[in-house]
Amino acid sequence: MGSSKNIDELLYSEEHYADPYPLWERMRHESPVFFDKRLNAWLLTRYQDCVEAFANHKEFSNRLYSKTLGVVFGPTMLDKDGQEHVVQRRIVAPEFVGKRFEPYYEAIDRNARNLIEQFPDHGVVDLVNAFTTRLPVNVIVDMLGMDQSDHDRFHDWYTTMMAGLSVKDLLESQFSSDKQNLGVLAHKELADYVAPIINDRKSCPVDDLISKIVHAEAAGQKLTLTEIQAFISLLLVAGGETTDKGIANMWTQLLLNPDQLGLVLDDHELFDAAFSEMMRHSSPVPGQLRYSLNEVTFSGITIPPDQAVYIQLASANNDETVFKNPRSFKIDREDLHLSKERKVGHHGEEGRYGHLGFGLGKHFCLGYEMARVEAVMGSVLLSEKMKNPRLAPGADTSFVLKSGTRSPKEVLIEYDQA
Ligand code: HEM
Repeated sequence: MGSSKNIDELLYSEEHYADPYPLWERMRHESPVFFDKRLNAWLLTRYQDCVEAFANHKEFSNRLYSKTLGVVFGPTMLDKDGQEHVVQRRIVAPEFVGKRFEPYYEAIDRNARNLIEQFPDHGVVDLVNAFTTRLPVNVIVDMLGMDQSDHDRFHDWYTTMMAGLSVKDLLESQFSSDKQNLGVLAHKELADYVAPIINDRKSCPVDDLISKIVHAEAAGQKLTLTEIQAFISLLLVAGGETTDKGIANMWTQLLLNPDQLGLVLDDHELFDAAFSEMMRHSSPVPGQLRYSLNEVTFSGITIPPDQAVYIQLASANNDETVFKNPRSFKIDREDLHLSKERKVGHHGEEGRYGHLGFGLGKHFCLGYEMARVEAVMGSVLLSEKMKNPRLAPGADTSFVLKSGTRSPKEVLIEYDQA
């Protein structure tokens, strides 16, 4: 890293896009609370500061999401604060955890098997194309109770919506407008498509997620048609795109670290730990947005009110004061909590800290269990199909930052017949 350059210049350099971790390390030391003029936002890079920011629901609001995701698919729980958020989340949350979520394991298993069946018996496969971009969205389509023949259509909608979400200036909300317009259009098409199904489920509920959401209530409130339509789009983007990247990141790191790959191939139960380490080492979603309502101080620097603040959680997850040798991918880490996450996080019990890859606090990821089950179950089935998996010759393992996620464009795996 050319340390003679200043942080402003480096933040938008090719070298930072290719590997942001060296600059984040420098920022944690030199300027942990950094004002990025181009983005018009403050960047937090230290673990402790990011934990505090996620947990601070008094000084921070989530309202800026109405200028990013909200523009494409309308209001969702993500842009709500306080009681309004609590109620919206409580209406749908029970479906995504524990006993109520277990019936959907079957959809994960079936969809993963369907995709893997189409792999060649041996040779080379691009896991991104053949599996990761497909599994999460197919599972959501099934959970919602949509027709299997809709998989491709939903896949197109969610990729177009995703592309419409990039924002250039967080406070002024300047978008790359062509893509944004296409994103809005994709949401509209999807919303029109699901509207009659939602109405139908109101009078004739069946055993699917839409029926459950239509009839669920909290504090005497139900979601309106517009809110259900927006929630379905949120589900595809927040649940589809992210899990897609998560599985791709996990396999990339395993393939780049054959000793670690050997461990999970010998003992499939270790995919659970590999998932946690992936969330820390190669967080699929590198940061989250907040808006300061009052003055708020981190590492001795005070951020004024009415500012955009970017919680750079991927930097926090690689803070060397918390995780030893953070850039080494090790599934048997002694400093990381290695199984299911908690909404309030893990703060050093027995020397283990939680990763922040799913956020923390009230907006903690709704799909943390679903993402883990998909990645772990899918990976077990993949390793049953692919004997001796290895990086294919010429595979490009570089990570790309795009629409708020970071992952490789392809994961080319060569394998033998099982
Ligand atoms: C590896 C995969 C995933 C990653 C990395 C991820 C990441 C995140 C993060 C960082 C947040 C916090 C947002 C904030 O604090 O502003 C979040 C929230 C959320 N996630 Fe996930 N997520 C993943 C999978 C899923 C899945 C499978 C679903 C499907 C249900 C989902 C649905 C949501 C929703 C609805 C929220 C908003 C919760 C709220 O505002 O209360 N996510 N996710």
